[in-house]
Amino acid sequence: MGVVTDVLVNEKSYTVPMATEEPSVIAACSNGTKMIRNCGGIQSKLSEGLLRGQIVFMNVTDQIHIKEKIDQSTEEIFIQAEKSYPSIVKRGGGLKRIQVRQFPEDDSFLSVDLLVDTKDAMGANILNSILEGVADLFRQWFDDEILFSILSNYATESLVTATCEVDFSSLSKTGDLEAGKLVAEKIAAASQLAQIDPYRATTHNKGIMNGIEAVVLATGNDTRAVAASAHAYAVKGKYRGLSEWKLTADGLTGTIELPLAIGTVGGAISVLPKAQAALELLNVTTSKELAEVIAAVGLTQNLAALRALVTDGIQKGHMSLQARSLAMSIGAKGSEIDLIAEKLKSGLMNQEQALAFLLELRQS
Ligand code: MEV
Repeated sequence: MGVVTDVLVNEKSYTVPMATEEPSVIAACSNGTKMIRNCGGIQSKLSEGLLRGQIVFMNVTDQIHIKEKIDQSTEEIFIQAEKSYPSIVKRGGGLKRIQVRQFPEDDSFLSVDLLVDTKDAMGANILNSILEGVADLFRQWFDDEILFSILSNYATESLVTATCEVDFSSLSKTGDLEAGKLVAEKIAAASQLAQIDPYRATTHNKGIMNGIEAVVLATGNDTRAVAASAHAYAVKGKYRGLSEWKLTADGLTGTIELPLAIGTVGGAISVLPKAQAALELLNVTTSKELAEVIAAVGLTQNLAALRALVTDGIQKGHMSLQARSLAMSIGAKGSEIDLIAEKLKSGLMNQEQALAFLLELRQS
């Protein structure tokens, strides 16, 4: 677990904890943060923030009958939903909408979707309790069999959009305008490729998820749910990059849009001391704010990855971190780590060499 400092989102500066097995993720996010902060930071916004759950009927013989009964009985459904989890309604959340979906591919299924506001909770237990409560009511009304009731991880009612602008000089390592312009053109080209080539889009999105999943994990949220939802959302016709970078007169405009169902209370979040510490560091007051920061981290991570790719390549940064890991793996401590890593970078990089440097250092 590491932190990235001074991540500027919606004019507020955050210290962002990240849990990951890949140290270069945190280093890259730090790099991207510096570029973006210089240019005013990121604007990020969560849409309405609802979770969707499904009550699925199978072997349906009369779709119209179920649909009409549900349309006519919304009040009873809302009452049953509230009875199934009263406390969430007291907190201003609970069932907000009902949607019935049919499947042209197979009309023996029918999905009754409940859209629920779980406030700052991750919400899986709240939603599943409401779904099972409403499913009991449906069993009284319909003979058709209910296959299951479960939340959907495809969080299309919790979309976050984050945008930023980065000027040419911030993109170049020396601050040179012309060099920065060339980098910007290449980043825009790399972004365009991720819109048309699923092979590249997968890696592009993996880079985005490097940042997103690290914050999701650090804060005790569900990394698999967030990843499944993001990748499903990336399929618009075909699988595409979740972010885009476009050239402007002065630099680049970056945008990312993805579903993020995130909590700041409940479940593992309230139990794990590390998640609590992470949230304290972040200093966020709502799950909406946390989702907005996480999307901003995804965009930042993506900028850092693309800039590295179109300039030095990613191995340079990776190798210098790898040198530190190597030094630690052979028992180097404290200041020895950087001294050995420095020596390793200029020659052979293996354990034997690292050990030789450590012995030399300790003898001197
Ligand atoms: C490595 O973990 C992530 C990258 O491959 C992402 C990308 O290629 O955009 C650098």
